[in-house]
Amino acid sequence: MNQAQNNDNKIIGKPIDRVDGYLKVTGSARYSAEIPTEQVVHAVLCQSTIARGRIRSIDTQAAERAPGVLAVITHLNAPRLAQLTWLPAGQSLPILQKPEIYYYGQNIGVVVANTLEQAEYAAGLVRATYDEQQPVGMMAQRLNEAFLPPMGLSGGGGGSVDSLRGDVARGLDGAVSIQQTYTTPIEHHNAMEPHATIAMWEGDNLTVYDTTQNVSGVRQVLASAFGIRQENVRVVSRFLGGGFGSKGLNWPHTTIAAMAARQVKRPVKLVLARPQMFTSTGHRAPTLQQITLAATPAGKLTAIRHATTSHTSMLDDFVEPSGLMTRMMYSCPNVEVSHRLIRANVGTPTFTRAPGEASGSFALESAIDELAYKLNLDPIELRNRNYAERDEHENHPWSSKSLRETYRLGAERFGWAKRNPVPRSMRDGRYLVGYGVASATYPANYRAASARAVFFADGRALVQTGTHDLGTGTYTIMTQIAAETLGLPVDRVRFELGDTRLPPSPGAGGSTSAASAGSAVQAAARTLRSRLIEMALRDENSPIFGLGTSAVTVESGRIFARDNPSRGETYVQMLTRLGEKVVEVVSSVQPGRERATPGTPATASQKPGTEQDRGTQASESQSGVYSFHSFGAHFCEVRVDPDLGTVQVARVLGCYGVGRVLNLKTATSQMHGGIVWGISMALQEETYMDARSGRYVNANLGEYHLAVNADIPAIETYFVEENDPYVNPIGAKGIGEIGIVGVAAAIANAVFHATGKRVRSLPITMDKLI
Ligand code: MOS
Repeated sequence: MNQAQNNDNKIIGKPIDRVDGYLKVTGSARYSAEIPTEQVVHAVLCQSTIARGRIRSIDTQAAERAPGVLAVITHLNAPRLAQLTWLPAGQSLPILQKPEIYYYGQNIGVVVANTLEQAEYAAGLVRATYDEQQPVGMMAQRLNEAFLPPMGLSGGGGGSVDSLRGDVARGLDGAVSIQQTYTTPIEHHNAMEPHATIAMWEGDNLTVYDTTQNVSGVRQVLASAFGIRQENVRVVSRFLGGGFGSKGLNWPHTTIAAMAARQVKRPVKLVLARPQMFTSTGHRAPTLQQITLAATPAGKLTAIRHATTSHTSMLDDFVEPSGLMTRMMYSCPNVEVSHRLIRANVGTPTFTRAPGEASGSFALESAIDELAYKLNLDPIELRNRNYAERDEHENHPWSSKSLRETYRLGAERFGWAKRNPVPRSMRDGRYLVGYGVASATYPANYRAASARAVFFADGRALVQTGTHDLGTGTYTIMTQIAAETLGLPVDRVRFELGDTRLPPSPGAGGSTSAASAGSAVQAAARTLRSRLIEMALRDENSPIFGLGTSAVTVESGRIFARDNPSRGETYVQMLTRLGEKVVEVVSSVQPGRERATPGTPATASQKPGTEQDRGTQASESQSGVYSFHSFGAHFCEVRVDPDLGTVQVARVLGCYGVGRVLNLKTATSQMHGGIVWGISMALQEETYMDARSGRYVNANLGEYHLAVNADIPAIETYFVEENDPYVNPIGAKGIGEIGIVGVAAAIANAVFHATGKRVRSLPITMDKLI
């Protein structure tokens, strides 16, 4: 096959438009709360107005008598839920089971009525009195209460969040060093689409349309809470208007909706109001990060210490794992990373936009910039002098790493050489101009996934897996993978996701979906293609009867001899002749020994991936085990008003090595989205708590500031070509998070360059600059 033909068949990687774009812009994409449901009634939550204490009394009589009300459920009359057998962070709170109050906005009741208006009105009539205690909120004043979190689920995905290599005290001896404290505030996800659930029962069978990034996880929790089998629970999430991690675990309202539906024997719809999304659907925990860096005068790091303290709720331990990237980012013999938690009367924090790396990179990459100034070195030069040629934490080679190239290409395209390194040396009229840079990184996660591929005799294919599309393009890339692999045009392939009835895939979080579900879709499509080809090769009435599998190929649904393209037939012709209506396969993929955790010997039966044809494995890794991460660099230019202290980001450039890019258009949009949130994090986002009441005072989109169009400059992004044979079968590292990582540090570093003022506390608001 010549090169031109080859390229014509290539669909993966092409910047095609979103296959769900038409549904989205015409309003025909149905989100969870929009699923037409006959006989549906409406639920409205009642939430606690204190942050700590106990409900003394709760008066529901007026609500019960209000028009249209079908039920008022509180801890006094709620059905008893089973003890959960599976307790990811955020699930320990007994839901409407007890009078104890642990945070402001905790759900204390639900009102179900025929209409939303009736439910809202009646919910306003529920009166609770409390025995109130002084809440504990602000963590900065209570650092002495910090504790070591137990191993288990956290933003770091489990395992220990502390690590030590070498001897940090020795590494600090007689070297150039900096020691600083960086803070990041409470942040909320603020997805456009509010959390919502429609729940309905038929006997012991529960169906839930839910705004979730993880249908399988929701199913597991609901089955457990109601004491029914997982097979009896169906969870559907076909479209999401963003999630940013807040839809990764399930929150009490989903269980409450199911509880209410069972009670009133009608389908129940429950949609959270915007302020309710600030209290009980997670947030990014605030961090206080102490960083010590030491280096030789030549700029070689000799010690790194990164100690993070963040808060968690009274019942659950969730760690914002800010230090994890510090373990592997730079070559350094002595590195200590620790995480401590402090309890507060808050809802449980959760994954938020690159959990750990987004907050951690602000501290680490600001500190590197500070050290560069102290050493009188260019900050990119300092990074290159400490380039980690292998993962010194895992002690494995990288599966691939293009960080050096992203620094180089990014600097060139950005015009970094034009930067005068002296702070406050560059101006544009009255504005102080600053350039800043920071590294980006995120783990290239890959988990077991499965997919179904079906070909119909009319020429269409259907491909399914229980992954999700947060709005980021999953429908599109999966369609591309299936179409190219099957040898079909994109418009012949329909892709379905977001349903526990489909073959399972991991939750859409931690930049896992494209890698995992994508590899499963490719595996299923390959198996289906082979099956169809085999059927033709074995049929003596086929023009390609008797040829070997390697002697044929497929294009536009037609199987033909490679050395004689006129000798062939279409899938449809073949199936029609054979009288077959449908051919269906299910395939699975899972990580193999290339991802063995340190100290865990891989078993002999494990192979890298489960795909047969991943190409020959190079021998860089003696053990066959690799470390898997994406890397990149963010460059930015700011203009600071010297009188007002206002910061305007003038341009941002991102450059990344993320393995295989599955769709250049949606990938670019992902990076733009990450950078937009990075600008937002750097300059605006902060949830304020009133320390006396434990209440978030800006729980709305009017007062929780986030970046809008006027805050966003020109954004340029580049992907360095990276062919990674080890990361997973599809070769994509996952790009859900890396776009935000380092952006806040790049901006903070640019602000320092512009003004000579180092702001170590996000967000960088005008009061911190004047
Ligand atoms: Mo992402 S914060 O893992 O949804």
